[in-house]
Amino acid sequence: MSHRPVVIEDLHYTYPDRTPALRGISLMVETGQSVGIVGPNGSGKSTLLLHLNGLLLAERGRIEIGGKPMLPANFAFIRRFVGLVFQNPEDQLFMPTVREDVAFGPQNLGLKGELLLRRVRECLEMVGLEPARFLDRQSYNLSLGEKKRVAMAGVLAMEPEVLVFDEPSAGLDPRSRRRLIRLIQELPQTKLITTHDLDMALETCERTVLVERGLVIADGPTDGLLNDRILLESHGLELPLSLMRSPQNG
Ligand SMILES: Nc1ncnc2c1ncn2[C@@H]1O[C@H](COP(=O)(O)OP(=O)(O)O)[C@@H](O)[C@H]1O
Ligand SMILES: [Mg+2]
Repeated sequence: MSHRPVVIEDLHYTYPDRTPALRGISLMVETGQSVGIVGPNGSGKSTLLLHLNGLLLAERGRIEIGGKPMLPANFAFIRRFVGLVFQNPEDQLFMPTVREDVAFGPQNLGLKGELLLRRVRECLEMVGLEPARFLDRQSYNLSLGEKKRVAMAGVLAMEPEVLVFDEPSAGLDPRSRRRLIRLIQELPQTKLITTHDLDMALETCERTVLVERGLVIADGPTDGLLNDRILLESHGLELPLSLMRSPQNG
């Protein structure tokens, strides 16, 4: 496998209504790296993620995933290589039951019978949903936190090399958030995570990229970047709570 699973160069994207969302983003991610993407609302974070598996197509610039350029001939490979967990699980869940939803992807890859059920159970366990209790629940009736976990299980079930999460901790209660952080820390894949939760970024990402108005403003080790009060405040963000009282920021 390529040692740079994600390569983005000079990516531009404007929505059909002429809203410019990405104005020249470059980003290389190494295998196994966990990269936080932070920035104020509307800075282009979600738009960037939607380019990583071809849901949106660059109007200018270059994207390579797993060493393959973003071309229709590579979409099948790329969509298996990159697993994208949407911000809103309702955009992701579409089968009536949890079992069917998590099975959908691996089933399309040809898994069936006992192997398929085993994969579904394993992935539910990974996200902290007890299979016996959840397999036959209606996705529609689950709480937001549970829906988010089912959506994540469905993505993990495809065994992607790169995991992409859009605001994974948004709307979670403290216990669910804690569990999510632990899960993200344990997942060995290359990860890209957009978040407003800078404390979660500190715990889950060794590198952080700050974007604003479709441009990369800063890119470096999370500790340094999220300790930089002036940088954060000049881009509409605040120091993570856990760093507020440290002497150099006092
Ligand atoms: N479907 C869309 N149509 C038109 N403009 C959009 C659409 N989605 C997002 N935008 C605009 O693109 C810009 C970037 O949005 P987005 O990627 O959602 O930012 P973020 O995820 O950082 O909050 C914003 O100006 C937003 O209003
Ligand atoms: Mg967003």
